[in-house]
This record gives sequence, C-alpha cells and structure tokens, in this order.
Amino acid sequence: MSLAQRRILLGVSGGIAAYKSCELVRRLRDLDAEVRVVMTEGATHFVSPTTFQALSGQAVRVSLWDAQAEAAMGHIELARWAERILVAPASADLLARLAHGMADDLLTTLCLASAAPLYLAPAMNQQMWAHPAVQANIATLRQHGAQLLGPAVGDQACGDVGSGRMLEPHELRDALVASFGDRSLAGLKVLVSAGPTYEDIDPVRFIGNRSSGRMGFAVAEAAAQAGAEVTLVAGPVSLATPAGVAQRVDVRSAAQMHAAVLAAAQADIYIGAAAVGDYRPLEVSAQKLKKHDGGELTLRLGENPDILASLSAQTAHPFLVGFAAETHDVASYAQGKLRHKGLDMIAANQVGGGLGFEAADNALTLYWADGAVELPRTSKAELARRLIAHVAERYRATRG
Ligand code: PMT
Repeated sequence: MSLAQRRILLGVSGGIAAYKSCELVRRLRDLDAEVRVVMTEGATHFVSPTTFQALSGQAVRVSLWDAQAEAAMGHIELARWAERILVAPASADLLARLAHGMADDLLTTLCLASAAPLYLAPAMNQQMWAHPAVQANIATLRQHGAQLLGPAVGDQACGDVGSGRMLEPHELRDALVASFGDRSLAGLKVLVSAGPTYEDIDPVRFIGNRSSGRMGFAVAEAAAQAGAEVTLVAGPVSLATPAGVAQRVDVRSAAQMHAAVLAAAQADIYIGAAAVGDYRPLEVSAQKLKKHDGGELTLRLGENPDILASLSAQTAHPFLVGFAAETHDVASYAQGKLRHKGLDMIAANQVGGGLGFEAADNALTLYWADGAVELPRTSKAELARRLIAHVAERYRATRG
C-alpha cells in the first residue's frame, strides 16, 4: 500500500476521539501521504495544534482569520490542494454545520470550497448519534455526496456502549487507500454472507460452528472499498458493520440466512463466506430438555436448504462465489463443490494450523472452471482485498 504524492486534508473537530487522529496522521505518513491538518477551535481543547504539526510536518491551521495565510487566499489554496478531505472525528456540531452549508470557520469553509471527495468519520455519544436531528443531517450529507466512514459500535469514552465510536486509525487509512485504488466493483451490487448459523435444540441449546464472521466481514469491507454497493447477511457474530457496507441483515439459523440471501439476490455477485449449518434438529423443544441419568439423548436432524444451490438453480442468478473449509483433501472437495453447486468460483481454505475459523489470518486457493490461483497466508483484510480483485476480474471476463 502506498499513498505517495497523495494530498490528504485532515479536518479535526472537537471530540475526545481527536487523540486517535494523531495516530491516523502517523499511519498516513507511513504510507508517504502528504497530510495537512485543519482543526476547529473546539478540537484544540482536546489536542494541541503543535502535536499535529509535529506529526504531519506541516503548519496546522485553525482560524479563517489568519491574516498572513489569508493574504494569499489560504483557504482557497488548501481547498484546491486537497485530493481527499477526511474529517475525523466529525462531531455532531460539525455534521450539523456541514449539512446546512454553513461556513463559519476554516474547516467548514474548506469543505464547501473544495471539489475533493469528502469523507466523514463521526464520533459521539450513542444517544447523540441516534438523535433524529443528527440522523437527518447524516441523510442530507449523504445526499450531497459525502461518504460516511463508521461510526463503529463499542465502548465509548463517556462509559456508554453503542454506536458512535470513531473508526480506528488503520480502518480510516485503509478507506482512504481504497478511495484512490481499486474501484473494480464500482456500480455493482455485491451480496456477502458471513459467520456461523445456530440451529436451536431448545431455548438454551443450539448446534453451531466456530465461524467468527471475520473472513466474511473482511470480504464485505473489501467489496465496499472496491466501489460495490454491499449487502451483508450476518449470522450470530459480535462484529461491527464494516465501513462502507450499505446494508446489514442479521440472522440466526440457516433457514433465516437462506431466506435473507434469496430476498437480496438481485445482486451482481454473491459471495458465500458463511459457515452454514448443514443440519438442524427436526423438533425444537419449547422447554429446556432435562438430563436423564445414564440415558442417551438422540437428536433427529434434517438437512438445511443449500443457499448457493438454490441461487444457482435460478435462471438469472448472480455471479456465485462459494467458500470451502476443509480439514483434508481440500482441493478435491473444493473443486467438487464448485461443480455440484454450479459456482463461478470457489475459495478453498484449510482448517487448522492457526488458519481459517476464528483466526486473524487465512490462506485461500481460488478455483474456477479452467483456472486456479493461490493466495498465501496473510491477514483476512488483505486476503479479502486480493480475493475481491480476482472476483472482479473473473466477473468482467464472464459477464463483462
Ligand atoms: O468466520 P471466520 O472465523 O473468519 O472463518 C472463516 C471461514 C473458515 C468460515 C470461511 O473462510 C469459510 O470457509 N466459509 C465456508 C465454510 C464452510 O464450511 O463451507 P461449506 O463447505 O460447509 O460450504 C460450502 C459453501 O456452501 C460455502 O460457501 C457455504 O456458505 C455454502 N453453503 C453451505 C451450506 C448451505 N446450506 N448453504 C450454503 O450456501
């Protein structure tokens, strides 16, 4: 990854997440980006301009009324200089002012005066984020073409838990990198399934599997970074919706995932990264099953519908990408699934050895009718980006 010679204007508004933006400047500078920082007056109460000046190697501007800079129309020069404007953190106040086209400080003036794509990384208390006034401003800003990065769900500085956390610096950096780079899925709709399914036995027990959802969420994020409109159907996982994903549908069982995927199947590409339970108990007890000493418990299981097979049976169906997680004979099982399920491509992964389920890393071999490629071990985020590049290439080659 490189951002060499890329010009990024980082706007910092008043919020405690401003401290994370210091780290963001470092991450951008690591990739050789040119970074200039503009702060609101509020932001200076959280972090000193001197900190950003030291990290970016550039003078930091705060005031619109800087006589020396404005002698040469400094705000217009900055607005023209920027290739991307990222406001991180974007406070509720800043979002409101931007939504209403106000230009009452340097940062809002620059955002109005620049033709550069505007990225906003909101950060605020979860109650504030949920407020209808904030949501209305967000809708307006989206209409005006601003792109929202986050917010994430999680612990907040105020002690609350919920939606409103600023994305982490590396996530914001990756979004900026992607904004310059691979747009190979621009204009396409991509549907991704992720995570496990849970098949209930009784009100307290279920049959599940070890999928964490990390691989599928990384795929959804990479597809969004490549410009796709992404719908993510997620099994029961505890992961925040990745940046840029347009829609998320949460499900629990294989039957629910089957229904949710088929309902959203008006997509150009479907990527099935979910570990869907093959079987479900035929009877789900309404009451907790009691233990009988020395006795055996027999569960009668019925087969779940196969989501990929259902899609491939449709006359007009998306470009289909399956996954195969195997402990042995990976290549032959994966190629068998490619044929039997009528897929365009399959991503095979070996289970075990710190790869596959739950792990941070993975390795894949991609197979299609007349080709294959190895994607060696790396982080799921990086692997997902490489997978998406191959999916885009095969999609263009076959459906172009
Ligand atoms: O979630 P992580 O912890 O990050 O782990 C990632 C992963 C290992 C779960 C992922 O990389 C992966 O391999 N997912 C597929 C897991 C699997 O075992 O698939 P399968 O061999 O059971 O099924 C093959 C394909 O058919 C998959 O694309 C699956 O989504 C699909 N399928 C399976 C059953 C079913 N009823 N309907 C389906 O569509």
